[in-house]
Amino acid sequence: MANIHLKRGWELPERLVPPESVYFNRRNFIKSLGMATIGAAGLVYGSDVQGASVSELKTNLSKLPPLNVPRNEAYQKVEGRTMTKEILAATFNNFFEFSTRKKVWPLVHTLETSPWTVEVTGLVEKPRTFDVDDLLKSMPLEERVYRLRCVEAWSIVVPWIGFPFSALLKKVKPLSSAKFVKMSTFFRPDQAPRQKPKLSFFSKEPWPYTEGLTMAEAMNELTLITMGIYGHILPKQHGAPIRLITPWKYGFKSIKSIVKIELTAEQPPTFWNTVVPSEYGFYSNVEPNVPHARWSQARERVVGQRGRIPTLPYNGYASQVAHMYPKI
Ligand code: MTE
Repeated sequence: MANIHLKRGWELPERLVPPESVYFNRRNFIKSLGMATIGAAGLVYGSDVQGASVSELKTNLSKLPPLNVPRNEAYQKVEGRTMTKEILAATFNNFFEFSTRKKVWPLVHTLETSPWTVEVTGLVEKPRTFDVDDLLKSMPLEERVYRLRCVEAWSIVVPWIGFPFSALLKKVKPLSSAKFVKMSTFFRPDQAPRQKPKLSFFSKEPWPYTEGLTMAEAMNELTLITMGIYGHILPKQHGAPIRLITPWKYGFKSIKSIVKIELTAEQPPTFWNTVVPSEYGFYSNVEPNVPHARWSQARERVVGQRGRIPTLPYNGYASQVAHMYPKI
């Protein structure tokens, strides 16, 4: 990967990347420059900060604790698509708590991922707090090769390791009044620079990042609580130590670094839907015929390849999920 630092054919121009460019108020930003230090502004919007080289990153990835689990027969591969190289998936990420740019990996070392617990609460018979180390030991881990399609019109195909969300929910015994699931990422401004109020007071970012599903979506066979990728535990840029993967929805639904799961009767507010309600819906299933305000959703750039391929309805998973969305 000698040319890893160069702009690659499949990369989006940076100006198209941050969804916040829509709501970001430029006048306030200019005013804020007077208040924020240049260093801070550089950290968030400008240059990449210090960090390991790509070859060090490769070495570090190879040292992550392995998860040797069987690959689910039904998700051995994605027909007609090749697997994304690990180093590409690990160097092209969205993790807005750290940066609005794709080069997140040199920044995420500040996130402390051990110890880590996930509270599962709300409309359940048995609220519980799970230690992720116990989940790794006790849950039925399996590997699944899934497509991931970002609303920014890029995509990857990667082998996630995790367990069905339904297996976790069964442990807390959902009440019949539970209709939705709300999930939250950590809120740690000392570890994630873009959560600091002084750097984002002029924006409308409602930290922590939250996402939601209906109960039926959470219980769907595709919905994976994910703790690993490429045969080892998740590196931080992919949302260590535990995240969601819903492959038929745009990638922003697949919330990273989850600390809390709450079952609710009402549809919960979600991060991007709160920031730009006109652009990011609650359901956000992959719909190639419904263009986003800034990205046609008909085609996608495959990370690591040139050109574009057609995007499939529900990202290719219609047979497993379309029944949840009957047409009116
Ligand atoms: N989760 C949190 N907490 N913060 C984020 O910024 N970005 C989302 C999603 N989960 C995001 C997040 C978006 S926009 C995408 S496309 C996927 O994570 C990207 O996952 P990846 O970086 O592992 O490929």
